[in-house]
Amino acid sequence: MLLKIAQIVYPGKSFGIFRDKALFTDEGLPGELVEVEIIQDKKDFFNAKTIKIIKASEYRVKEKCSHYKVCSPYQIIDYPNQLKIKESQLREMFSKKLNLSDLSIKVIPSPLIWGYRNKINLKLAEINGVYRLAYNQPGKDKEFYPIDKCWLSPDLVNDFIEELSLSLQDIASETIKEVTIRNNIENDILLSINLDSLADFARIQKVLPKLSINFKQSSGVCLVKNQFGSHQNILWGKNNLKHRIYETDYFIGSESFFQVNSLILKDLLEDINSLIEKNKFKTLADLYCGVGTFGLAFAKKVKTVLAVELDESNIFFLKKNITANNIENCLVSQQSVETWTKNIKEHKIDLAIIDPPRDGLKEKISSNLAHSNIPNILYLSCGASTLIRDLTILKRGYKIESISFYDFFPQTGHIETLVFLKKK
Ligand SMILES: C[S@@+](CC[C@H](N)C(=O)[O-])C[C@H]1O[C@@H](n2cnc3c(N)ncnc32)[C@H](O)[C@@H]1O
Repeated sequence: MLLKIAQIVYPGKSFGIFRDKALFTDEGLPGELVEVEIIQDKKDFFNAKTIKIIKASEYRVKEKCSHYKVCSPYQIIDYPNQLKIKESQLREMFSKKLNLSDLSIKVIPSPLIWGYRNKINLKLAEINGVYRLAYNQPGKDKEFYPIDKCWLSPDLVNDFIEELSLSLQDIASETIKEVTIRNNIENDILLSINLDSLADFARIQKVLPKLSINFKQSSGVCLVKNQFGSHQNILWGKNNLKHRIYETDYFIGSESFFQVNSLILKDLLEDINSLIEKNKFKTLADLYCGVGTFGLAFAKKVKTVLAVELDESNIFFLKKNITANNIENCLVSQQSVETWTKNIKEHKIDLAIIDPPRDGLKEKISSNLAHSNIPNILYLSCGASTLIRDLTILKRGYKIESISFYDFFPQTGHIETLVFLKKK
């Protein structure tokens, strides 16, 4: 049957109306006429699969990768329209769920729309008898799509993937489950080979041949199995990689969290800095601080920074980064944000920067924050639905001053949003 696509709804289903009921399908851009096959007829909506594009939109473009549906389904949309679609998804969520119409959303495009990622995770899977680096098929743990090149990673990483694939084919170890390749703008690489058991450790160590990164002084290869701890796993070179962004050195390790788009991160840091300067904020709390991405960038411009993080390996690199940047006014607090917010009234701070994982804030945290005395909050979110959910609670004590959408993830449906909140 034929369907006209009305819009793409967050996080990425194409939507149209069929027999007065909502229909969601896997492909189709706004305005396109597509042929779909209905898979499920539910009470309030249909689930369908797109079979053919009958009339294509003028902003449909040819995809670069054969596997684009697995990791970057927006490849078929020209970049200006990717931004428009994501902005309108945000606008709709804010107006429907928070009753905020007439919104101004600042849109900040990514400086690079290809090759922007500084980290790629690939599985090692046996496909037709050969060990290949691969992505999981979405939602299917045991199904893999072999990857030779990823357009979201820079050329240097793609060359390296090719070389690594050959080595891993020779090693053919069932204990290697995944590799993580991280790179910085100086072209250093940190390769982490993630093992699910130590059974083959010695052989991998012995036979992993010299890779080209072994000739670059600031690169490294690590074998990672959680129980090793952070330091006992270096196979070659270093167990860390340094990103220099916004005049701050960030050392990260195999298990650290770090923002994947370094160039737009710099834009974000500049914008937050302007806000801090304009409002003369002097005391900051960096909640869910990771290796110190926000707190350390602004530490030299404010009186004190309190950095709150739970994860052991992030704390290790946070401390290393405080020393590396000669910062003396950052207090590290290894605890959960849940615990921190229990005594929230005791903390005297001008601005809390909150950057939780995609699941957002626990309800109790949102409610403690909503009733706190913190005059200003910057909430950075990589999950638009959970952000909206949390704002419905935070707005009991705060009003939304501004909303900005930073396109950290071109070619994908992910939306990174920065919301500035002021105490009512
Ligand atoms: C989205 S990352 C942000 C990290 C950092 N702000 C950055 O931009 O690099 C979320 C961070 O929260 C940490 N985290 C997750 N749950 C936490 C919790 N309950 N309390 C404190 N930190 C937590 C994770 O370890 C991770 O470093």
